[in-house]
Amino acid sequence: MSWLMHSPRTPTYLIPCVLALSLFSLTGLLLYKVDDVVSRTGTVVGHNLEPTPWHVFPHKPFDEETRQQRAYKILQCSYLTCRYTTGDGGGERRKFPGGGGQCPEFFGAIRRDLEPWMVSRITKDHVAAAQRLAAFRVVIVGGKMFVDWYYACVQSRAMFTLWGLLQLLRRYPGMVPDVDMMFDCMDKPTVNRIEYQGMPVPLFRYCTTKEHFDIPFPDWSFWGWSEINIRPWDEEFPDIKRASQAVSWRDRIPRAYWKGNPDVSSPIRMELLNCNHSRKWGAQIMRQDWDEAARDGFHHSRLADQCNHRYKIYAEGYAWSVSLKYILSCGSVALLIAPQYEDFFSRGLVADQNYCLIDPLKLCPSIKYTVEWGNQHLEEAEAIGRRGQEFMESLTMDRIYEYMFNLISEYSKLQDFKPTPPPTSLEVCVESLLCFADEKQRTFLTRSTASRAVTPPCTLRPI
Ligand SMILES: *[C@@H]1O[C@H](CO)[C@@H](O)[C@H](O)[C@H]1NC(C)=O
Repeated sequence: MSWLMHSPRTPTYLIPCVLALSLFSLTGLLLYKVDDVVSRTGTVVGHNLEPTPWHVFPHKPFDEETRQQRAYKILQCSYLTCRYTTGDGGGERRKFPGGGGQCPEFFGAIRRDLEPWMVSRITKDHVAAAQRLAAFRVVIVGGKMFVDWYYACVQSRAMFTLWGLLQLLRRYPGMVPDVDMMFDCMDKPTVNRIEYQGMPVPLFRYCTTKEHFDIPFPDWSFWGWSEINIRPWDEEFPDIKRASQAVSWRDRIPRAYWKGNPDVSSPIRMELLNCNHSRKWGAQIMRQDWDEAARDGFHHSRLADQCNHRYKIYAEGYAWSVSLKYILSCGSVALLIAPQYEDFFSRGLVADQNYCLIDPLKLCPSIKYTVEWGNQHLEEAEAIGRRGQEFMESLTMDRIYEYMFNLISEYSKLQDFKPTPPPTSLEVCVESLLCFADEKQRTFLTRSTASRAVTPPCTLRPI
C-alpha cells in the first residue's frame, strides 16, 4: 500500500532534480564552450596567437591580470561590440561637387606593384597561397571589415594598421570595394620573384624590393607608434616642420647626423659607426637607446628636436625603416645610403632632387664628399633639403588615404571572385579595436581619426 501512496509523489521530486541537474550540466557545457571559443579567438593585441615563425619576437604581456578577465575582455571586445554598428554606410555613396584630380606621379607604382596579376588575375588560389606567409587576412565586404588571424604581430602594428583601414572606410563611405587581402606585418619582404615566378602570391606588407612581389602598404606609424611615442603623422610632421624653421638651414651644424639603433642586424648601421668623426668624415653618429628614452618619458628623443644639422643620414635597419619620413621632414639634406627596400612613398623620391645618394661601398668618404659639396654649394644643397621637406609635406594623411583607396581599388579589380568573410573571421570595427587598446594607444588612435572626404579620391593617370 505504501508504494501506492508514494508513487504519485515521485515525479514531483524527480522533476526539479532533473531540471537542476540539466541546468547544471548545461551551464557547465556552456562555460566549457565559452572557454573553448575564447581560447581559439585571435585578437588585434595577439591573444591566442603565436608570433610569426619567420620573425620570432617575445610574447607580449597582456593587460588583464586573470584568466577570467581575459576571457571577459575577449568575449566583450570581439563578439559583442561590433553588433550594433552599421559599417561605413554601405550603399549611400557620397556625391561630390567637384573632381578629385589626378594622383601624384608616384601613385603609378600601384600599377607596377600589381603588374604580376594583370594577366592571371587574382584568384582564390592566389589568396590561399599567400596565407602561408601572412599574419592576418582582411576581407572588406559592404564597407565592413572582417579579420582572420594567423599570427600575432609585434607591438601594436596590427592594431594601428587595421585602424588605418577602418579610417579609410570612414573617409570614403560606400566607396571602398569588396576585397580579400593577406597581410604580413614584419619587416622583410618574403615573396621572392624567382622563387614565386610560377605563382606570384599577393601579400601586403610595409615594404618591398625590386626582387620581391610583396605589395607595399602605408606602415602603422602614420597613425602612431605608441611604444616609442611617435604620434600620428598629421601631428608629427607639422611639429617637425615648425621646429625645423627655428634654425635656418645655413645656421645648422654643417655636418651629417644620424641617430638610431645600430643593433638591428644591419651591417650598414654597424659600418656607419666607423664614420663617427666630425673633422675626419663630417659626420656625427649617435646611438638611440629606446629603453632609456622610454624610462625618461621620451623627453629627449622628440623627432622635432633632431633638425639641427644641415645633413641627415638615412640608413636602413633590419629592412626599410619608418625613420625615412621623419628624416626628410627636417628640411636638411637627406643622405640616403643606397636603399635596398622601398616603401609606398619612397618611389616618389629622386636623387639630387630631394635627397642625395650615398655609396655604401665607400660609406665614410661618400658622406664626407657630399657634406663638403653641400657646404661649398649652399644654395643647391639647401634646395635639395627644402624639396625633401616639401615632398613629405605633400604626403598628407588625405594623400595616404587616396593611395590606399587606389591600391585597394586596383587590387579588387583584379580579383576574379566575390570576396566573402571566411567562417573563422571576426568583424573588426572602431569600437572593437578601441576596446582592446590601452590608454596610450587609445589616445593615439582617436587623435588619428579620419574625417569624411569632401572631394573624391584622386584618379590614377591613364596607362
Ligand atoms: C660619436 O662621437 C661622439 C663625439 O665624439 C660621441 O659622443 C658618441 O657617443 C659617438 N657615437 C657612438 C655611437 O659611439
